[in-house]
Amino acid sequence: MEILGIDIGGTGIKGAVVDTQTGALITERKRVLTPNPSKPVAVAEAVTELVRQFGKPCPVGIGFPSVVRSGVVMTAANIHPKWIGTNARELFCQATGCQVQVLNDADAAGMAEMTFGAGQGRKGVVLIVTIGTGLGTALFTNGHLLPNTELGHIEIDGVDGEQRASDAARKREKLSWEKWTRRFNRYLTRLEQLVWPDLIILGGGTSKEHARFLPLLTVKTEVIPAQFLNEAGIVGAALAAQQMVEQS
Ligand code: BGC
Repeated sequence: MEILGIDIGGTGIKGAVVDTQTGALITERKRVLTPNPSKPVAVAEAVTELVRQFGKPCPVGIGFPSVVRSGVVMTAANIHPKWIGTNARELFCQATGCQVQVLNDADAAGMAEMTFGAGQGRKGVVLIVTIGTGLGTALFTNGHLLPNTELGHIEIDGVDGEQRASDAARKREKLSWEKWTRRFNRYLTRLEQLVWPDLIILGGGTSKEHARFLPLLTVKTEVIPAQFLNEAGIVGAALAAQQMVEQS
C-alpha cells in the first residue's frame, strides 16, 4: 500500500510517500517549517500544505512529538501547550480531507525499525531511544508495542533526563561529544536498570553520529544504531496508518 508518512518535529514537518510492503520511500522527502508558535491550527495548515504538495494522497500517518491516546494529544514537552487535549486525528482529518492516523513520533520510529530496520526479527524486550530535540522512547516485547512510554522524562538526580541528555541539551550547553556521551550513558544506564531490555536501538537525528559515542557507552545491553536514521518516523507513521485502514 502507498501511504503518506509525516513526521512533525520542533523545527520541521517532513513527509514522503511510503511503500508499506517494503518500507521504502517512493517519493522524495518534502519538508515545510513547523510554525512558530506551533499552535494546533497553524500546524494543521502546514500539514495540509505538505499533503497538497504530494497531490493529496490518502490515507496519511502522522508521528507527533507527544503522548497521543486515541488521537488526542496528552502532553506537550516540545510543542505548544495549546495542543494538550486537542484531538489531533480529527483536526488533521478535517484540515486535509484525508483519513488520518496520529501516534507518538518515537513509537512510529520504533515501528519502522522493528518492521524493516535494526530490530527486524528481534524477540524479547527491545527499547528504541530517539535522540533529537527531545528523548523519545518506544518499547516492544516480542514485536508488540507498548505505546507512549515517555522514558525520555525519567529523572536523573532530580532532573528530567531529556533536559540533560538530548541533542538539544548538547547544543544548548555546547557540550563536547565526550561530555554529552557521559550524560547519555548515565541516562541509558538508569533506563537499563528499570526496563532490562534485550536490545537497545538508538535512533533520531543524532544516531547518524553514532561512531562518536556508541563505542563509549558502558551499558550491559547490546546497543545498535537505527537503520532508518531520520526517516524512521515517516516510515512508521505510514505503517500505523496502514494498520488503521486494515482494521477499519
Ligand atoms: C516527548 C515525547 C517525544 C520525544 C521525541 C519528548 O519530549 O515527550 O513524546 O516522543 O520528545 O520527540
